[in-house]
Amino acid sequence: MKNFSFLFFMLWMITGAGLLAAPLPVIISHGPISDENQGQWVGDQKCIPCHEKIYQEWLTSPHGRAWQKLADEKSQKNPSCLRCHTTGYGQAGGFSEFSATPQLINVQCESCHGPASRHLQKVKDWSQVKSACQECEIRRICMGCHTPKQSPDFSFPNDWKKIKHTLDK
Ligand code: HEC
Ligand code: HEC
Ligand code: HEC
Ligand code: HEC
Repeated sequence: MKNFSFLFFMLWMITGAGLLAAPLPVIISHGPISDENQGQWVGDQKCIPCHEKIYQEWLTSPHGRAWQKLADEKSQKNPSCLRCHTTGYGQAGGFSEFSATPQLINVQCESCHGPASRHLQKVKDWSQVKSACQECEIRRICMGCHTPKQSPDFSFPNDWKKIKHTLDK
């Protein structure tokens, strides 16, 4: 018995540490879809017809202007900036460069909610940030970009309150 507990503890440690070390935890795979492939990145324009209010809130938030920050610094082609100022960079079908994937600039909806093509096909059949482990899961997504180096003062849930589009409504 003791050995088993230890084994599970080790597994927990390993998988837990693996999650923390993940470069950008975009795929949120709990809820109805259990495999990792939630589909393709579709871009924010596709969300407007059904989520216009959230879209407008997002557009005027820092995440909706993250690409402009790179433009100000003339860094739109600097690979070391793209992971946190675009959507899905480094992942299959995600942002690659402006000329190829202009629809995936900025820290879009799918940066936090994951690729959404399946959601578009069937709106109810989609897993995303809402989960039994909501706060730690959301925090993990944020920390993928708000690293201690980039955002030394980042604190959850305070920073979520600054940009939230749903909680407490
Ligand atoms: C055709 C309409 C439609 C489009 C387009 C659409 N959604 Fe939705 N979305 C819905 C509906 C309806 C719900 C509520 C589903 C429910 O109650 O189960 C929803 C729910 C959600 C949820 C919450 C799911 C939950 O479990 O609470 C998220 C997140 C979301 N959509 C994100 C997006 C994103 C991102 C896009 C653009 C890529 C998008 N949606 C495009 C209709 C749409
Ligand atoms: C690890 C993720 C990450 C990377 C990589 C990254 N950024 Fe950022 N960047 C952020 C986050 C998070 C913020 C918001 C910081 C805050 O206020 O908490 C930010 C904010 C900014 C800002 C506005 C705030 C300021 O300091 O003026 C600019 C400009 C910026 N980044 C440019 C860049 C450039 C240029 C690069 C590449 C050389 C880059 N970033 C790479 C995550 C990143
Ligand atoms: C910075 C990360 C982030 C971005 C960017 C983001 N969301 Fe969310 N969104 C969240 C979180 C976290 C929640 C969970 C809030 C909750 O559980 O009440 C959420 C919840 C939702 C919900 C569920 C609303 C409800 O009342 O149940 C919808 C729909 C949604 N987001 C759509 C979008 C759309 C559309 C965009 C882009 C226009 C977007 N989100 C951008 C993090 C994000
Ligand atoms: C894909 C990378 C990425 C993810 C994921 C992400 N952010 Fe950001 N966030 C940024 C960047 C880049 C900026 C800076 C944008 C700018 O200055 O225009 C930023 C800015 C912010 C700001 C404004 C900071 C300031 O002081 O100006 C807040 C608040 C914030 N993010 C909260 C969150 C929260 C909460 C989450 C998780 C639910 C989250 N972010 C997830 C990249 C990300």
